[in-house]
This record gives sequence, C-alpha cells and structure tokens, in this order.
Amino acid sequence: MTTSNKTMLMAKLAAFGLVCSLVTFCLYFEPSSNVCGSTSVEVKHHVGVDPNEKPIVLLWYWPLGVKFDFKDCLKYYNIDSCVLTADRSLYNKAQGVIFYHKNIAWNLNDMPQGLRPAFQKWIWFNVESPTNTGRKMGMDNLFNLTLSYRRDAGIIVRNELTIRETENTEDFVLPKKDKLVCWIVSNKDKRTGTLVRENYFEELSKHIDIRLFGRAHTGRQLGYNEYYPTIGSCKFYLAFENSIHRDYITEKVNGPLVAGTVPVVLGPPRANYEQFLPSDAFIHVNDFPNPKALAEFLLHLDKNNTEYMRYFEWRKFYSVTPHLLSINNEFTQPICLACHYLSINKVYRVVPDLYKWFFG
Ligand SMILES: *[C@@H]1O[C@H](CO)[C@@H](O)[C@H](O)[C@H]1NC(C)=O
Ligand SMILES: *[C@@H]1O[C@H](CO)[C@@H](O)[C@H](O)[C@H]1NC(C)=O
Repeated sequence: MTTSNKTMLMAKLAAFGLVCSLVTFCLYFEPSSNVCGSTSVEVKHHVGVDPNEKPIVLLWYWPLGVKFDFKDCLKYYNIDSCVLTADRSLYNKAQGVIFYHKNIAWNLNDMPQGLRPAFQKWIWFNVESPTNTGRKMGMDNLFNLTLSYRRDAGIIVRNELTIRETENTEDFVLPKKDKLVCWIVSNKDKRTGTLVRENYFEELSKHIDIRLFGRAHTGRQLGYNEYYPTIGSCKFYLAFENSIHRDYITEKVNGPLVAGTVPVVLGPPRANYEQFLPSDAFIHVNDFPNPKALAEFLLHLDKNNTEYMRYFEWRKFYSVTPHLLSINNEFTQPICLACHYLSINKVYRVVPDLYKWFFG
C-alpha cells in the first residue's frame, strides 16, 4: 500500500468511526440537547475504563470553598452510581474532574498540569449568568462537558424551579395578603448588571407602592423562616433577575410560586419562561409598554379579585415545592448529577469554544 493509500484508508476509517459515534451519541442524548446538529461538538469513543466499576469523579475545588458530605447524593437524590471525592491524589483514576468556574485562577495555574488520562472528562461547572462570569483566558478546548443551568448544557441543572405537573394537586388557599407589591433584594451592586432592574424598579415605584425587604434596603437579611411568609403576604412579588440571559430563571421566581404570590418577572423573554412555567403563573414586564402601564395593571388586578385569582388556576395541574430545607448548599445537586451522568453515559465530547457557546 502506498503512503497516500494508507492515509486515505485511515481517513475513511476515522470518518466511519466518527459517524458511528455520532449515531451512538444521538441515541444517548435527548434531541433537545441540540448537539447532534451542532458543528461545534466533536464526539469520540470511550476507552480504557472498566464499565463495571463505579466511576470516580473528582471535585477539584469545593465551589466557593463550601464543603458538603458526598453521602448527601444518596440521601437526598438517591444517587449512588459513582464515587465522588475531593482527594486530588486520585486524579489519575478519576473519570471525571469537576471545575467550578469561579474557583479557577485567572492564569489557570491551579488546574492539573501535564497530560490528562485518555479516559478522563473535564467538567466545566458554572451556575452564574454570563454577566457574573469572569472571562478567564484559555478555557477553549479544555473541557468535555458543561454543567450549567442552560438548557443546551451537557448536564442541565435546574435546582431552582421546582414546579411539576401533577394529578394530585392540593386545594389552594390564598395566603392572607396585607401588601400589594414586594421586593426582597440583597445585592444592589450596579457593577453586577443590576442596572436594568434598578431602573425599572425606580420607574415602577413612581406609580405603585412597593414594600422593600432584604439587606440592600433594610440592612437586614430575611431569615429562611421569614422568606415564604413575607412573600406570601404580598399580592405581587418582583422576581427581577440580576441580569438578563437565556434560561437564567432563578429562585426569585420559584419563591413566590411556592408562597402563593404572583411573580412579576424581569429576565429573558416570556417565551423562555413559558418553557419552564405555565403561561398564566406570572406577569412579565415585557407584556407592558412601560413600568407605568404595568403599575396600572397591577392596581386593576388589586381591585378585581376574579381577575387576580386567574393567576392561580395553574395550581389545578401543577404543584410547586419549597427547596429541601436540609440542603442549603446549592452546589450539592449539580455535583451529584454530574457524577451520575458520568456513570450512565458512554460517549463524550470536547467543548471547543466554551465562551462562544456561553457568552453567545
Ligand atoms: C476532553 O477534551 C480534551 C480537550 O479538548 C481532549 O484533549 C480530550 O481528548 C477529551 N477527552 C475525552 C475523554 O473526551
Ligand atoms: C372583574 O372582572 C371580571 C372578569 O373580567 C368581570 O366580569 C367583572 O365585571 C369585574 N368586576 C368588577 C367589579 O369590575
């Protein structure tokens, strides 16, 4: 065989391999993951790992330095298919290594250096929105999986919205209301992209009375036991996200749904919310030409209880639950899910342009 023939054959084999694994990939993943049609994802075969052993998944940093008990994966999420560890000496055996973005040093020099075991997958973990994510250089072609709230992430974590369709709903009793519009805000830092919501709030407050709670306004943070009752005592709650990004819909919306209050949302477009919530469970600021018109609508609903109660009709078909009280670490569930993911998925990919994907 001539060299060029050999090269041809190898190229053909490589192409065949790629097609095979793409097919496998598309069988393994939901079509919604939007990966099969994407050109920015490469797929390779999975080699060198005993499929009968529970994969070891190494947490390279404790996210923000906060530790938790790995047994919580079993205790709260019934996940026992993998072995989580924070022991870096197990690096060479780890099938997955999770890196929390905020912990990564700007020059990346605290990440593992040198050759990576061929079977190892690096997982980029970030639950912050792009506005609050530092653009560290050199992050392309480094990771094999993304762990994020984005619906097109490799591993999707949405631990903030707990609304579920159900047949056994309980009769809803509207909590007693003695306030019209409320807002809890703990962070008023304009540098973190809160300008949009601050401006909207300023304008809105000229036309309707808004009760403020939280550190940024009263100097005191609400305790967990005060959170739901406080929100529940208001007819409307301003669920204003700190920055506006696709799929970035947080506890700020879940809280009022749990409490029995109508969330007034400011964030991504209505259609994006409707992918997660019934369309009549919330009021979107974009439904109105300006804050004044929104204020007028809220005042109108305040006067007409029939119309106001329409925002609770969805409760006939859905239920929404408070977050697990005992889990006050928002990182536990995503980490458990990542661990589980590696134990059931036999194919993996390279994330060549992480920032192009995340920052769009
Ligand atoms: C993970 O991504 C890196 C960097 O792109 C790549 O070199 C490596 O082959 C990938 N590993 C796996 C197991 O996919
Ligand atoms: C309240 O709204 C309902 C439905 O739009 C309407 O039929 C009713 O007349 C309104 N009641 C008052 C007091 O305006």
